[in-house]
Amino acid sequence: MENARSDPQVTWSAVDALAEGWLGIHGEARSPALAEVLANCERAGLPPIAVSPCQGKFLHLLARVAGARRVLEIGTLGGYSTIWLARALGAGGRVVTLEIDPHHARIARENFALAKVEHLIELREGPALESLAAMEREKPEAFDFVFIDADKPNNPRYFEIALRLVRPGAIIIVDNVVREGGVLDRSGTDPRVEGSREVMRLMGQTPGVEATVLQTVGAKGYDGFAMAVVGGTRT
Ligand code: SAH
Ligand code: DHB
Ligand code: MG
Repeated sequence: MENARSDPQVTWSAVDALAEGWLGIHGEARSPALAEVLANCERAGLPPIAVSPCQGKFLHLLARVAGARRVLEIGTLGGYSTIWLARALGAGGRVVTLEIDPHHARIARENFALAKVEHLIELREGPALESLAAMEREKPEAFDFVFIDADKPNNPRYFEIALRLVRPGAIIIVDNVVREGGVLDRSGTDPRVEGSREVMRLMGQTPGVEATVLQTVGAKGYDGFAMAVVGGTRT
């Protein structure tokens, strides 16, 4: 234990593993098929960059607390976070998830079937900016919850479009805004860092948007979520 605690990453992963066990986060009773879904992603050669189990459960609980019925996700990968969000939906709910990579999309569809949530999910293949432009033209029912987790340079654009697609009081979460403190880099040389810095500035500058940043450690290292609530009423 002393040894593990000398390496922060070992400690963070060990605590995540302990919490996952205590809370039954991948237990078949509470969350059927999620372990199988991750195994399928690994077998298919997908990069191991899905949210961690504890983070997935966190997104799920947030969406439940929000009473989300309409969820938009940008960046599906193998659908791990998508499944967590689908299982949070209220009656008649849907997740619309956007993915550019056809291989990722194919594996995600397999995983939706494994987790028996395929009827709750609409996966749109293609560059997210194009899918979002098409959706804006279609004028879909407003979204209650948005999870932005795709190509980081486009984070500011995704956020601006999300603002037009949500209802008052909606939640927008942006993943990976800390990157082991990489967000401190002011040089402007890494477009991914720039995308995350700019989206947080935008959250701070947009009237009616209230936002925070939550730094996280765990199985996925040191990173963080930005969270914004869009308009809505407050006394
Ligand atoms: N949300 C997933 C992880 C997403 S990883 C989870 O936590 O389980 C990021 C995904 O965004 C990758 O699958 C990548 O192919 C996709 N992506 C990257 N650029 C994109 C773009 N321009 N449009 C849509 N998807 C994109
Ligand atoms: C990467 C992307 C992610 O969305 C993530 O959560 C972790 C890593 C990446 O592109 O390296
Ligand atoms: Mg991510």
